Amino acid sequence: MEYMGDEKYWNSRFEERENTLAGPEEDLVENIQFFKKGSTLDIACGDGRNTLFLLQNNFKVTSIDFSTKALERLEKFVTEKSYEVKTGQVDLSAPNALKGIGVFDNIVVNHYRLSRENLDTIKDHISDQGVLFVSGHGHKNKPNERFRAEDFIQDTDFDGLKDSFELIKYKEEENQRGFLVTYIFQKK
Ligand SMILES: C[S@@+](CC[C@H](N)C(=O)[O-])C[C@H]1O[C@@H](n2cnc3c(N)ncnc32)[C@H](O)[C@@H]1O
Repeated sequence: MEYMGDEKYWNSRFEERENTLAGPEEDLVENIQFFKKGSTLDIACGDGRNTLFLLQNNFKVTSIDFSTKALERLEKFVTEKSYEVKTGQVDLSAPNALKGIGVFDNIVVNHYRLSRENLDTIKDHISDQGVLFVSGHGHKNKPNERFRAEDFIQDTDFDGLKDSFELIKYKEEENQRGFLVTYIFQKK
C-alpha cells in the first residue's frame, strides 16, 4: 500500500517535497510529436511536472488527482510560470471516476495504473485521432515494499480499447527505476 497509497499517504508525500518541481517524464518529451493539437487531460497528475511541460507545448490542460496537496503545488508551479490550468480533485478508484469530465484531444496517464473500468470508458473522453499516452511500471516487476503486484500495468489492461484505438507505439525498458512500459494509442 505504498505506491498506490491512499489520499492521506499522498498528501503527506507531497507536503514533504521541496519547493521544486521535477522534470517531465522523458518518454512524454520523446513522444510529444504523436499528440494531437489541442487539449490534454493529465490523469493522476501529481504536482504537475507533466502538466507544465504540456502547457509549455501549447496544450490546454486539465489535471486531476485525489491529492489536494498535489493540486495546490501544481497550481502554484503553473501560476508562477504565468500559465493557466483547470484542476479537479477526483478519486480514480471509483469505477465511473471520469464521468462528466469531458472530451480531450489527448490523455496522459503517467505512473498510475488506471483501473480496467476507467480505461474501458476512456474512448468517451478522447476525440477522433486523439492520443492516449500511458507510461509506468510494467508486468515484469516484482512486488516489493513500495509496489504491490496490482500496481503493475498489464497488457490485458487495454483489452477493452481494441475496437476504438490503434496501438501506434509500445516501448519497454529495464532501468534503475524498474521495468517500465509506454503505450501510445490513437483513437480510430
Ligand atoms: C507516482 S505519482 C505520479 C504523478 C504524476 N503522474 C507524475 O508522473 O509525476 C501517482 C499519483 O497518483 C495519485 N493517485 C493515487 N491514487 C489515486 C486515486 N485513487 N485517485 C486519484 N489520484 C490518485 C497520487 O496522488 C499521485 O499524484
